[in-house]
Amino acid sequence: MQSTAPDVNAFGAREPGRENESICLYTGNANPDLAGKIAAYLGTTLGRCEVFEFANENIFVKILDNVRERDVFLVQPTCSPVQKSIMELLIMIDAFKRASAGRITAVVPYYAYGRSDKKDQPRVPITARLIADMISVAGADRVLTMDLHQGQIQGFFNIPVDELTAVNLLSEYFVQKQIQDLVVVTDLGFAKRARAFAELLDAPLAIIEKRRVGNSDRAELLNVIGEVRGRRAIVVDDEIDTGSTLLETVRALEREGVHEIYACATHGVLSSPAIERISESALAEVVITDTIPLSAAKHLPRVKVLTVAPLIGEAIRRIHGGESVGALFSSEMKLVQEMLLWDHDGEAA
Ligand code: R5P
Repeated sequence: MQSTAPDVNAFGAREPGRENESICLYTGNANPDLAGKIAAYLGTTLGRCEVFEFANENIFVKILDNVRERDVFLVQPTCSPVQKSIMELLIMIDAFKRASAGRITAVVPYYAYGRSDKKDQPRVPITARLIADMISVAGADRVLTMDLHQGQIQGFFNIPVDELTAVNLLSEYFVQKQIQDLVVVTDLGFAKRARAFAELLDAPLAIIEKRRVGNSDRAELLNVIGEVRGRRAIVVDDEIDTGSTLLETVRALEREGVHEIYACATHGVLSSPAIERISESALAEVVITDTIPLSAAKHLPRVKVLTVAPLIGEAIRRIHGGESVGALFSSEMKLVQEMLLWDHDGEAA
């Protein structure tokens, strides 16, 4: 795969400098668009490699640059096709290790199997832990990720993990919309990050109590805890998968007298039938980020995609330069405002 990313970023502010030239940025096939935008932010180009599948479904990888002693960042969310994305990630890490890279950072903006993070019934695996072990064993030195299903997944790794969040970006988008009488709605699992989201919007928080029906994708909503009547709601979550949770939440909020409902999530997994559910719902807008690519068939006028490329790019720049990434968790940072100037194609608006 060869990069066509421009050698200056969309703002034109950061010229390619020597420090960025020494960042070796690569992508697998999971989300090359995002990787290209990250490269544009950094004022660099994607490294050259071949990553393809043989007729027998075995994956072949060849790194086409000399990466000996280099600082390698490999962008590969483990999104659909999930098993293939995971294998590409692992095989590419192995290729970099055997090519004597100095340091390998697995940049995994979306971490699959995050919901399998505990043994909550007899004889089930903890697949999120297994994936963490595989990434480490393959040879990654560190991991850069975003809005894990649960922060504790960081502890499944014995290598450094930087977990970014899209909460500041998503909240800033809604701040700019200036929606009145807001309430933020979430489930228990996302409550802590939703609290931060609600504070940024100066809105109260309501919690939905839900349970899964057996081990199926279907969510059943039990209660809405908090005052929502007569308000406009933003439903916030780490991911929208089949849209079952979202649809149940929208129905419950409508029953409770909410008259305008928005939804947002870091990861737009949007497995079938999420798109049908969103189109048939009364949702005013659904806002997601580009941690996972959105196929043309899933583009709806009501679905807005914000790019996290500047956030990830900035984290990479700081990791490479040995700077703190702590500032990237601040809603004050200018970068959040800048990110909203990027349209879906990664061009400055
Ligand atoms: C689960 O707890 C997550 O936070 C999301 O609520 C869930 O992944 C959404 O899945 P679905 O859209 O299939 O209901």
